[in-house]
Amino acid sequence: MNVPLLDLSHQHQPIQEDIASAISEVVSSNAFILGQDVTKLEQQIADYCGVDFAIGVSSGTDALLIALMAIGVGPRDEVITTPYTFFATAGCIARLGAKPVFVDIDPISYNIDPEKIEEKITPKTKAIIPVHLYGQCADSAVINDIAKKHSLYVVEDAAQAIGAQTSDGRKAGNLGDLGCFSFFPTKNLGCFGDGGMVVTNHPEMNERVRVLRVHGSKPKYYHPVIGGNFRLDSLQAAVLNVKLPRLETWNLERQENARRYEALFDTSDLISAQKVQLPKAVYADSKVPNYHTYNQFVIQVPDRDALREYLQKKDIGTEIYYPLPLHLQKCFHYLGHKKGSFPQAEAAANNTLALPIFPGLKPEQQGYVVQQINSFFSG
Ligand SMILES: Cc1ncc(COP(=O)(O)O)c(C=O)c1O
Repeated sequence: MNVPLLDLSHQHQPIQEDIASAISEVVSSNAFILGQDVTKLEQQIADYCGVDFAIGVSSGTDALLIALMAIGVGPRDEVITTPYTFFATAGCIARLGAKPVFVDIDPISYNIDPEKIEEKITPKTKAIIPVHLYGQCADSAVINDIAKKHSLYVVEDAAQAIGAQTSDGRKAGNLGDLGCFSFFPTKNLGCFGDGGMVVTNHPEMNERVRVLRVHGSKPKYYHPVIGGNFRLDSLQAAVLNVKLPRLETWNLERQENARRYEALFDTSDLISAQKVQLPKAVYADSKVPNYHTYNQFVIQVPDRDALREYLQKKDIGTEIYYPLPLHLQKCFHYLGHKKGSFPQAEAAANNTLALPIFPGLKPEQQGYVVQQINSFFSG
């Protein structure tokens, strides 16, 4: 049986005609940059996230970059984030000449450990970027308290977490000063290329991001500030406008698939034998689970690389997010970290494996995945 890590055809097939006609309308309009499809998407995303403003941009990376530009991050500033994330989170800090200051992760949620943030705050700290990794919100209540106490901005890297909610029901993107989403095709809401969105409740941040998105011009061809080309294409927005109304159903399907994995692993003895650790959606201080949207379903296992190879031979797709934490990347050697600096991030990088979780994944495919993991550990 073949089980790919991700198969988008289940999502796209039923709406293929709607997407084709949305694309064809853009083609007929001859308007390809920003325009009414982008405006419509911005309104819909703002409503969906419960925020006042949403600004369509060229990618999740650019959403982070422009959000940091909007709060004025520059040389001599420090920005606190996690070393266990996609490169863009820290890359954007460094690209603005600021220093990424890493804080280790909580080993259960894989998100930044709020207990370890305060000791890293200095007079140069400007902001905290919590990453809602794999589709689960970071512990925003604690992070926001710390930010408020020290007058810091919170920029959420919600690239993997559209639709995710905290245990008190607030949506990702509406937890800090600015929220950043990615519409990369593998995300829960993905377009047909690159795309992203910045969301905020601050009118002045909305204004700044909009101006920065078009080379810092206002009015056209007059530049009070230096920005860049961070615009979202109409074609991508048109596709996303068709897909967004289905997002909640797809997220629920991912959650159902997660429950099915839990039940399947429960009937094996892999968990009691401590061979497999499943993702958890509850923080220590809350009895109510987070609304985890499982952009990835990530397990921890001993002998991860051998298991991955074994599953590959059995036609099962998996991925490692991420094999080398950011503090050990060559480009960040200048920060002076070494092996052992962030032990939880390093352990996660060594032991985690993402299993297929996409909407449309069949129960028998999930059964096959768990069966093969079982046979690896019992063989
Ligand atoms: C946590 C995180 N941050 C930022 C990004 C960057 O988004 P994009 O690929 O749309 O530039 C991604 C996407 O891969 C991500 O997963």
